[in-house]
Amino acid sequence: MSDKIEKKCAVRLMQLADMEFLHRVVSIAGWNQIDTDWCRYIRFEPAGCFIAEYDDLPVGTVTTLCYESKIGWIGMLIVDPQARGLGIGSTLMRHAIDYLQHRVQVIKLDATLQGFPVYKKLGFKEEFEIIKLVGKGGNFAPANLPHISFELLPKIIEFDKIAFGASRETVLKQLLEEYQKFTFYEMHHGEIFGYIMATRGRQFWHIGPWVAKNPGIAENLLNALLMIGRGNRFVVDVPRVADASFSLCMVNGFVEQRKYVRMFLGLNKWPGDFSMVYGTGRAEKG
Ligand SMILES: CC(C)(COP(=O)(O)OP(=O)(O)OC[C@H]1O[C@@H](n2cnc3c(N)ncnc32)[C@H](O)[C@@H]1OP(=O)(O)O)[C@@H](O)C(=O)NCCC(=O)NCCS
Repeated sequence: MSDKIEKKCAVRLMQLADMEFLHRVVSIAGWNQIDTDWCRYIRFEPAGCFIAEYDDLPVGTVTTLCYESKIGWIGMLIVDPQARGLGIGSTLMRHAIDYLQHRVQVIKLDATLQGFPVYKKLGFKEEFEIIKLVGKGGNFAPANLPHISFELLPKIIEFDKIAFGASRETVLKQLLEEYQKFTFYEMHHGEIFGYIMATRGRQFWHIGPWVAKNPGIAENLLNALLMIGRGNRFVVDVPRVADASFSLCMVNGFVEQRKYVRMFLGLNKWPGDFSMVYGTGRAEKG
């Protein structure tokens, strides 16, 4: 960034009072987040979500989240189209990285086509491809699965940790509080075999996390969710590590919308077991 631009660009903490701008950037980018998602991001990491200002006006956003002292997540990097190409995205990224670097050992994100070159220049490496699929709820064979209860949550968190690589306790607890009716799990002999969650979005309900021990369990979970969400539009981000979820969604009439690349910076010491991940979470979680 040139000296001239650097003087005009400042980075500060994101606040709930920024909601009008946050709402606007998501609409401009055509993303799926709603205002309550932003509230959640700020609540999870109040000192790690940033706004870039250019000429004293907000022009860009980025959020972070720490999972234990292991994995840090960067999400919601968006720059107003009129301010792109000025180094603002990179400046926000450097703030997010500075914040996370002392708190975690590896930093991860899901890169869009536009974000990819920015992250590559900052040293991020590719892990795997993720495909965004969109489809509709409908009348599927009822799987008759129970909703996740708060009593069961510790078991879900432990199960999820194997797949993700670190505990996502705070996030899963919060999502359960908000979306319990859109959660299901399958258990055999006291052991969790899979769970699924969905959250409301601007255009689509977002399926994920969707974690299962095998494709049969994954299918039961998806059917239960699509059944309860009859008539709604759904989106799911499918890692190409577990091709079975791609097939399951295709069978259910989902179509590909766009691709992402999971990337990481640092030592990928907690890769988790992504063969169990049929659908990833949203900006706050993988
Ligand atoms: C991705 C995004 C945040 C980049 O913001 P930005 O302020 O334009 O980025 P910068 O100006 O800091 O660019 C950083 C570098 O990447 C390069 N770059 C940026 N966009 C690029 C593109 N589409 N193709 C190739 N290179 C690109 C720039 O040339 C620059 O390189 P340089 O430092 O050598 O000049 C912005 O394009 C955006 O908001 N896109 C829509 C939302 C999105 O996809 N966000 C990413 C989520 S993963």
